[in-house]
Amino acid sequence: MTESVAEFYKELANDYHFIFADWRKSVLRQSEALDHLIRAQGLKVGASVLDCSCGIGTQAIGLAVRGYNVHGTDLSAEAVARAQQEAERAKVKITFGVSDFRELEANVPGTFDVVLSCDNSIAHLLTEEDLELALHNMRAKLNPGGLLLLSLRDYDTLIKEKPQSTLPVVADREMGRSIVFQVWDWAEDGRSYRLNHFTLKQQDNDWQTSVNSTRLRAWQRAEIEAALAATGLHNVTWHMPDDESYYQPIVTARLTD
Ligand SMILES: C[S@@+](CC[C@H](N)C(=O)[O-])C[C@H]1O[C@@H](n2cnc3c(N)ncnc32)[C@H](O)[C@@H]1O
Repeated sequence: MTESVAEFYKELANDYHFIFADWRKSVLRQSEALDHLIRAQGLKVGASVLDCSCGIGTQAIGLAVRGYNVHGTDLSAEAVARAQQEAERAKVKITFGVSDFRELEANVPGTFDVVLSCDNSIAHLLTEEDLELALHNMRAKLNPGGLLLLSLRDYDTLIKEKPQSTLPVVADREMGRSIVFQVWDWAEDGRSYRLNHFTLKQQDNDWQTSVNSTRLRAWQRAEIEAALAATGLHNVTWHMPDDESYYQPIVTARLTD
């Protein structure tokens, strides 16, 4: 078992969609909420977007379907390869690359109206130095007046409860049933946890089980705000989930015109 982030997502790339009962529906639902938020910030459909932790394309594809001009990058070459296939399947044009989001300045040409990183990707950064380095690189990829958008779990609440697991996602698929859940082992200081990701796949009358682990930091909103301020971004605003909006807290910040 390894805790390397790249290994974790390499092993998950083929089955990543099992995290969602219906991944394609989730792609559309998430893009609706993101599109709404981006337009509420005064940007228009057609704006250029860098999704710098695109994974298998959950946000990148939905935004491209809605008319945004998307470039997707991720640390995991295997996730990017899967995103490429999914984009072809969805008949949308997205350009892709492989990059650590701490190295965007060196690896990704050009600048964008929006830089986004969704679904808790920044929780893979374990130190203040790495968080600031990633935010510095994201800022460097913004056009003047550009929008940075990050989504992550509500750790201000979770840190109080320190849950040991997530609820299972059960789905009946062509190959049989899939069940996915996570078990969290919290560090003694309560600031990080080891995420053990369980995938159970039904095959004929048997079950195949795999477990992948990685460490995450339970970033508090005040810590993210401080890091954004240190990066020189302004208008830092939290958008908390409700029935109409994105399913995770989102923080937005702007680069000066
Ligand atoms: C929970 S997944 C979310 C992926 C995608 N945004 C989605 O919602 O399906 C987190 C993603 O962050 C990527 N990631 C983690 N650390 C990264 C880093 N330092 N640079 C770039 N991507 C990273 C992982 O490879 C993974 O694809």
